[in-house]
Amino acid sequence: MAPRRKKIYEGKAKILYEGPEPGTLVQYFKDDATAFNAQKKDVIDGKGVLNNRLSEFFMTGLTNIGVPNHFIRRINMREQLIRQVEIIPLEVIVRNFAAGSMSKRLGLEEGTPLPRPIVEYSYKNDDLGDPMVSEEYVIAFGWANQQDLDDIVSLALRVNDFLSGVFYGVGIKLIDFKIEIGRVWDGDFMRLIVADEISPDSCRLWDAKTGQKLDKDVFRRDLGSLADAYSEVARRLGLLPAQGAPLGKPTLIN
Ligand code: TMP
Ligand code: ASP
Repeated sequence: MAPRRKKIYEGKAKILYEGPEPGTLVQYFKDDATAFNAQKKDVIDGKGVLNNRLSEFFMTGLTNIGVPNHFIRRINMREQLIRQVEIIPLEVIVRNFAAGSMSKRLGLEEGTPLPRPIVEYSYKNDDLGDPMVSEEYVIAFGWANQQDLDDIVSLALRVNDFLSGVFYGVGIKLIDFKIEIGRVWDGDFMRLIVADEISPDSCRLWDAKTGQKLDKDVFRRDLGSLADAYSEVARRLGLLPAQGAPLGKPTLIN
């Protein structure tokens, strides 16, 4: 069967296809889960559907509070229409509490509150394992200039405040998250917008009362069912019915 449209890029969890109009792409969410730079892999039934809906929910919320992002509209259970951007090759990480690589690097207990939100960068390069880089590196290697970085920090902190509040409202603590930023042009004028996805794949989410993990650490650390964890997040946000659907077939509420 001939492919119905041109594939532009395939990553570990998503595929980008040519969109219906110039400057648009179709973002397809796969069920594949990877960790530790794809050394650990599995297919989690329903993950793509949940992340498509969750990313729509967060990006739409960001649009509603005036934070520019790539989301245009959801097309179906696994696909969304997005603006084509030129991705800045950085993972922009915001941390509110120590966890993961920060805890390891600094010997801090996971969950330790940080004195203020900390923004850090990794250079997006799978062959190198996404190494952490400083602002000096970012500017010296030309991935972004100082003005871009000021805008990136401002976007990242706005996303942090928004997500922290949304999650806090449903009894979830936002420990940290990663976003990606893209460039778009309106004529000669370049703007930076939030791109990629916002989902439990790219956040650390702990139940505010019990500390139970509701994010990809469940998969990274073999803590149980990833689909159950993501469904719980979707349920609390009102995107899944309270009693939940059978695993693998989440019945989303529109
Ligand atoms: P880290 O503690 O492993 O550096 O991760 C920080 C945050 O970034 C955490 O929310 C998970 C997210 N993240 C990604 O989205 N993709 C990645 O490749 C990595 C390593 C982390
Ligand atoms: N996203 C990375 C991978 O696919 C790492 C991670 O999220 O843990 O391997």
